[in-house]
Amino acid sequence: MSNLFYPNKEKFKAPLIKNMCEYKDLVDEFAKDYEGTWAKFADMKIDWFEKYHTILDESNAPFYKWFVGGKLNVAYQCVDRHLKTKKNKAAIIFEGDNGDQKILTYRELAYEVSKTANMLRNQFDIKKGDRVVIYMPMIPEAAVCMLACAKIGAIHSVVFGGFSAEALKDRIIDAEAKLVITSDGAYRKGKPYMLKPVVDEALKEGCECVKKVCIVERNGETIEWVAGRDYSYNELVKNESSFCESEIMESEDPLFLLYTSGSTGKPKGVQHSSAGYILWAQMTMEWVFDIKDNDTYWCTADVGWITGHTYIVYGPLAAGATTVMFEGVPTFPDAGRCWKMVEEYKINQFYTAPTAIRLLHKTGEHEPAKYDLSSLRVLGTVGEPIDPAAWSWYYNAIGGGKCSIVDTYWQTETGGHIISPLPAATPIKPSCATFPLPGIVAEIIDEAGNPTPIGEKGFMCVTKPWPSMIRNIWGDGDRFVKSYFGDCKKDGKPVYFTGDGAMIDEDGYITITGRTDDVINVSGHRMGTAEVESAIKKHSNVAAVAVVGKPHAIKGEGIFAYVVLKGEDTVTEEMQMVQEINSIIKKEIGAIALCDDVVFVPDLPKTRSGKIMRRILRAIAKGEPITQDTSTLEDPSIVGKIESIVNSCAL
Ligand code: WT7
Repeated sequence: MSNLFYPNKEKFKAPLIKNMCEYKDLVDEFAKDYEGTWAKFADMKIDWFEKYHTILDESNAPFYKWFVGGKLNVAYQCVDRHLKTKKNKAAIIFEGDNGDQKILTYRELAYEVSKTANMLRNQFDIKKGDRVVIYMPMIPEAAVCMLACAKIGAIHSVVFGGFSAEALKDRIIDAEAKLVITSDGAYRKGKPYMLKPVVDEALKEGCECVKKVCIVERNGETIEWVAGRDYSYNELVKNESSFCESEIMESEDPLFLLYTSGSTGKPKGVQHSSAGYILWAQMTMEWVFDIKDNDTYWCTADVGWITGHTYIVYGPLAAGATTVMFEGVPTFPDAGRCWKMVEEYKINQFYTAPTAIRLLHKTGEHEPAKYDLSSLRVLGTVGEPIDPAAWSWYYNAIGGGKCSIVDTYWQTETGGHIISPLPAATPIKPSCATFPLPGIVAEIIDEAGNPTPIGEKGFMCVTKPWPSMIRNIWGDGDRFVKSYFGDCKKDGKPVYFTGDGAMIDEDGYITITGRTDDVINVSGHRMGTAEVESAIKKHSNVAAVAVVGKPHAIKGEGIFAYVVLKGEDTVTEEMQMVQEINSIIKKEIGAIALCDDVVFVPDLPKTRSGKIMRRILRAIAKGEPITQDTSTLEDPSIVGKIESIVNSCAL
């Protein structure tokens, strides 16, 4: 086997999985007794209030249930239970954009969570099962509010702070949230920015479900207060008791909703469970990041994404680790910010996305050499495939050639990692997610459910239910079944399909080849083409639109829009149109969905039945030759016309 990078044994003193033999033993143990092995871990890892009676209930597949009858509380699992042994250990280390620092020990975190939980119950009448939308920046209160919801059994739905008022509104309405927790704003690149006005805008109409808004103070900027609706978190929480009884939750009670894009329609409210989710969050934290008691772990994601849920808040805290929360951006005040923080906090595990690595490589290639990065042991990447150039800079310039890079493959729906190297065990191939984690039966299959031959693309599926998998799409069970269990079958039974293609090589290593559906991966964030298209269609002069992904040097993929106008516009008006289109996208979705390229075309390539041939549009955007048969198109000549327009734009 060529091009393998072996773990540096000196860095790993007592890993949970020491070598590939131990990995294989665990995989075998699961193969021999799948449910029994999961139960073994559930018994070992979770502080149950009451033990479950059934490990896995498949009677209503694919609505699987795990650890049925079990009673627990996820906030108790993440915070209270650590008070016996770790009360004075740092739970959360916060670093603000402006350099502010704050440390919450497990004791302090327990008190804050309890006070906030009491506030939710007493001041906002939040009860078990109520939905609470959290629209917040990267400040410790975001984690405190998530845990406070868990403490009283409320279901949180965190909405990324970069989403627009429209996007926020859609998510509030879909979840029928009773309360929105936000902040006045926060800091970014040294300047204050605002979130509360976005909430005001979102609540203008259609959100009658929301009774109250709770506002955490972060930047102290002036905000408008709506009497009878808006309340100050800081004022309310200080009078609450720091003791709060944990709500006794069933294993399958929903812990949270998190909206993510699909290939069609509106974003889906991915619903996660309590027991199965927290079990896998904790197990993967321990296996994949080799978390040890004295470690300081930093994941640069935002709590608005699943990575922030599982690997900033729930996983690290369930494992009793110290987790860093960073409010700022990696390039402010300069491209050495992350490396400065690694040196200062002696970070042991650093977890980020390839897009950030490419950006820091490009804008600050020599920055890492200015800092002492020797504390690092595990470097993680997530969100998209990591290209060899970024991988090798990460490995050498950041890891000093001594750290293991864990290329973690997973999704909002999987709750936690499903394919990833184990840092002390797996010989790593660059840009390769390597092997399924023990317990995850991840298989690459073809349409008939057979494993695809070596080197050939197939569907990346998980063929057995696992504890942390998505339980439902909020309020839309049909869509849940169709979205994930409609495409792939094994032995005649529907299996979970990720939506990604993948390949296996002669050594059994898995490489993820990317989405097989109309989902674009922009900077590691999932964006549905249908969502962007429906935003663009809101422009009164747009007759038709098709959006595809195009490779982008930093973002991985950029958004490329083909627009057919209603009127006969001149080029100058087109420039105006591009601006107008992007401002609609900003309003409807947020700046993350802005188009990198917009081209105006006379028509789109459609089949006679009216289906847009996106594959042709993708090829043209990439500058690749067209291999599809165009003779079945309604108007085959359109392909040449579009090609020459795109070429003349010299994008
Ligand atoms: C999609 C999931 C998982 C948290 C961040 C994104 C892509 C994710 C990898 C990886 C190649 C990856 C897939 C997946 N993806 N990790 N290591 N290598 N592709 O979560 O927004 O739910 O997106 O991200 O296409 O389906 P998400």
